[in-house]
Amino acid sequence: MTSKHVIVLATRNQGKTAELRELLAGFGETVLDMSAFPGVPDVEETENTLEGNARRKARLTCAATGRIAVADDSGLEVDHLRGEPGVYSARYSGGPGLPATDAGNMAKVLHKMQGVPHEKRTCRFHTVLAVCAPGGQQATFHGVWEGYIAEEPKGEQGFGYDPIFFDPELGRHAAELSREEKNAVSHRGKA
Ligand code: IMP
Repeated sequence: MTSKHVIVLATRNQGKTAELRELLAGFGETVLDMSAFPGVPDVEETENTLEGNARRKARLTCAATGRIAVADDSGLEVDHLRGEPGVYSARYSGGPGLPATDAGNMAKVLHKMQGVPHEKRTCRFHTVLAVCAPGGQQATFHGVWEGYIAEEPKGEQGFGYDPIFFDPELGRHAAELSREEKNAVSHRGKA
């Protein structure tokens, strides 16, 4: 093996693995994800901050695999909603027995933002990336992507809240960007 280290991503989400592999390309490392460790159970996101969840996932994945582990937790923070949905972004529109969907999550944000003028619709995508090494070293990195909650969804690319996130510098919604364009400006890319 020519790579310097094996890095394990604390995810089974193949889209996320592909995106992080692209971002880590060039570091010369071998990047695995949890599909290489079928016997290791998923780490639950029990903390109430993005940083707490990312650190917990990295620490437990490192302990379970004996490898350098990288974990991320991300969310959309809307200023007018005092940072909601934040750490609850994935689950925002769900309830008991009712799984959340991207469409439901976006509809809930748009509903709460009804009548709010453009200048008060500021928001950001926020990623915390945590790294944990078997020797116990830990580090966390933050990345933010500032934008506005749009009046209505637009675009077919990406996932999650991308259709309602407007980047004022690019003049486009996140869901109108290719993966390369998004990686160049996104919270995850920066982290
Ligand atoms: P995760 O921690 O990366 O799994 O992100 C949690 C949730 O935040 C996702 O399920 C999405 O709802 C939202 N989210 C995170 N990153 C993005 C993004 O790049 N675009 C749109 N939504 C995102």
